[in-house]
Amino acid sequence: LHILKVKKLGNKIVLITGASSGMGKETAKLLLSKGFIVYASARRTEQMGSLEQSGAKILKLDVTDQNSIGSAVEKIISEQGKLDVLVNNAGFGLLGAIEEVSIEQARYQMEVNVFGPSRLIQLVLPHMRAQQSGKIVNISSTSGKMGVPLSGWYSASKFAVEGLSDSLRLEVKQFGIDVVLIEPGGVRSEWGGIARKGLHNSPEGSAYNRMASKILKFSDKSESKNSDPSVIADLVLQSITSLKPKIRYHGGYMAGPILFLKKVLSDRLFDKLLMMQMK
Ligand SMILES: NC(=O)c1ccc[n+]([C@@H]2O[C@H](COP(=O)([O-])OP(=O)(O)OC[C@H]3O[C@@H](n4cnc5c(N)ncnc54)[C@H](OP(=O)(O)O)[C@@H]3O)[C@@H](O)[C@H]2O)c1
Repeated sequence: LHILKVKKLGNKIVLITGASSGMGKETAKLLLSKGFIVYASARRTEQMGSLEQSGAKILKLDVTDQNSIGSAVEKIISEQGKLDVLVNNAGFGLLGAIEEVSIEQARYQMEVNVFGPSRLIQLVLPHMRAQQSGKIVNISSTSGKMGVPLSGWYSASKFAVEGLSDSLRLEVKQFGIDVVLIEPGGVRSEWGGIARKGLHNSPEGSAYNRMASKILKFSDKSESKNSDPSVIADLVLQSITSLKPKIRYHGGYMAGPILFLKKVLSDRLFDKLLMMQMK
């Protein structure tokens, strides 16, 4: 039975975005070790030598570039004739006050976290529909369920991922395709470093400077508690090997308590609790 299962997984073709670091890289590693055929993609392919050595097929892919998305999917289909799993993981956090973040920057946040993944979904669906099966795993965040100060556009992008995934799930169920949301809490990766740059960039004399330093202090404090990205890789594996995957999975530092409290507390009480953490 085990041999049969490995053989079956061995035929499964997976595309992962954002596989040059963090949870994407860890997911690629895990799926390779389980016998999946993994197309690992990102812009910084120079960071993916170890994945290539482990058997991954490396694709240079910028999710904001339609051509690069198109040729990645074309390449997979021409080499494998199908695509079973898409893991939309690439993303980053744009931090800054809504008053101060330019609409251009905000648009870029949405391009990377929402429109890029959506374009990929559009391109893989015809192939998944043809084979009457497939799994689309979208990496959201606890920020897909709550707003945090100076994180408005990141939350907006992840709320969008949540809404899109809920609609998509209902549209493609009829074709045997599953849509899964993963909501990580704090996870050790390059994410925090990249996001924090936004907070250092607030304009001189900004009305939000005090808030930014509080948030920096808070995130520095919690950084060391963040979970290993393998926690999320395990959830991806679980979701794509399950015959009936859950609609949402969560993992990583504080994800469980945050999502629980958001569900049971009033909005006002939740706000209060959140802001108390940042004093
Ligand atoms: N870390 C956390 O605490 C946390 C919590 C909740 C949710 N998340 C979400 O989890 C996902 C993975 O993040 P991570 O924590 O693993 O962060 P990470 O270490 O910064 O990895 C992000 C990945 O996304 C890729 N990426 C960024 N912009 C891209 C673009 N334009 N085109 C293609 N790839 C791009 C990066 O690759 P290149 O730069 O090489 O392209 C990198 O491989 C993200 O969607 C993030 O928002 C993270």
